[in-house]
Amino acid sequence: MTQQSHSPLHIVILAAGQGKRMVSARPKVLHPLAGQPLLERVILTAKQLHPEGIHVVYGDEQIRQALAHLSVQWVKQEIPRGTGDAVKQVLPHLPEEARVLVLYGDVPLLPVSLLTSLVESISFESRICRLDDSDFGQLVLLTAVLDDPYGYGRILRDVDDVVVGIVEERDARESQKEIREINTGILAAPAHYLRHWIKQLSPNNVQEEYYLTDIVAIAASEEIPIATHQADDSLIVMGVNDRQQLAQLERHYQLQQAKALMTQGVTFADPSRFDLRGEITAGYDVTIDIDVICEGSVTLGDHVTVGPYTLIRNSTIESGVTILSHCVIEGATIRSGARIGPFARIRPTTVLAENVHIGNFVEVKQSEVGQASKINHLSYIGDSEIGQRVNIGAGTITCNYDGANKHKTTLGNDVFVGSDTQLIAPVSIGDGATIGAGSTIAKEVPAHKLTLSRSQQQTIEHWKRPVKKQS
Ligand code: UD1
Ligand code: MG
Repeated sequence: MTQQSHSPLHIVILAAGQGKRMVSARPKVLHPLAGQPLLERVILTAKQLHPEGIHVVYGDEQIRQALAHLSVQWVKQEIPRGTGDAVKQVLPHLPEEARVLVLYGDVPLLPVSLLTSLVESISFESRICRLDDSDFGQLVLLTAVLDDPYGYGRILRDVDDVVVGIVEERDARESQKEIREINTGILAAPAHYLRHWIKQLSPNNVQEEYYLTDIVAIAASEEIPIATHQADDSLIVMGVNDRQQLAQLERHYQLQQAKALMTQGVTFADPSRFDLRGEITAGYDVTIDIDVICEGSVTLGDHVTVGPYTLIRNSTIESGVTILSHCVIEGATIRSGARIGPFARIRPTTVLAENVHIGNFVEVKQSEVGQASKINHLSYIGDSEIGQRVNIGAGTITCNYDGANKHKTTLGNDVFVGSDTQLIAPVSIGDGATIGAGSTIAKEVPAHKLTLSRSQQQTIEHWKRPVKKQS
């Protein structure tokens, strides 16, 4: 093992396949799982192993462009001639003494712990002294036993249970298709061995491709010790080849997120109807109703209640907040005790202070709303600063946009805005002001006074309704 600890780890990620079974203009590895491209997930997992190099084999330029923010070495495979040919493209970049871990860009849920144990099992000892130790090998394969192994390469073993090769579904005989131990595609080996085996590959198979999996038979024929590690959770080693598998993995992943949250004290009306596309921090006694989606970075404080059909993205919801059904909350901070919805839209950079009430069909954009203020019905509040204990009547609109620029509306504390009022920004309303219903406010409103702009009400005496003519 001493040699191993000095040996640099290089990770090769294969992502150049065509992904024909997805029937998509988008490369397969860019399809998202829980909001993140499959390949990005694999790269981020690889990074957690702190390798000396990560080499991503790609074919489609869209892939490199989409993930340009990740620091990896991009290696182009001009024509997808198979997984063996894909690894061949990386060989010139691998130091002779390296340990190499091969991952597939379409196997997105592998846990780091499993990969670490795989890498640690690469033996650099002489083959004789390691032959009896089946955990170690100069070629280490990650396998799994599946109830339905259809589509995967099958692990071939001899009568003594020693691995002798892998056969792909399309090349397998009927009896081989019965084998339930499958190749996950993930393997680890010293670089010099990979180089030696890959040189010997040939495309003698139904797909006329260079299969990486054929190195197993070559290694076996050279009596190289081959170790297998079996993953116990078959879904985490599952590859995405078509949209059904993508959906299956998505549901599996989402259920795992919900289960983890339940262990932290979150109640779900239905854990299978919750989606997390990012990171969440939740306090205890949080209650989440059905069909709630959290995206980006979301924090839910203790005793938060989230109603059904609500989307929360990149927001902090402090303790005791109640979010009723059908809300969209994005980039917002909502402080303790606030109540939002139903049918409210809170847009980026909005801060709602303690005990604010936002009701149905209210949109709040880039605004700060002070403690205990209420905007309960049918309003648009944009680019505003609203004081404490303000009451905004139904149908109030901040006219923040003049067609070219956005302007600010400022309301002091204890302001009362009557229903159906337009506040034409830039404008400011003093503390304690009252605005009569139906007003159009375009000038500064003084504090503690009633201001209204309203045409006189008239009653026309002796007026008669028109009567329909008799024909
Ligand atoms: C592969 C394995 C199979 C295994 C399965 C696990 C081979 C020959 N077969 O089959 O034993 O059970 O994965 O999911 O390896 N790729 C390239 N260049 C190519 C071809 C593929 O980079 O020329 C990449 C793909 O983008 C993909 C990965 O390699 O990320 C696997 O390719 P795919 O076509 O999905 O192979 P499978 O048929 O799934
Ligand atoms: Mg695949």
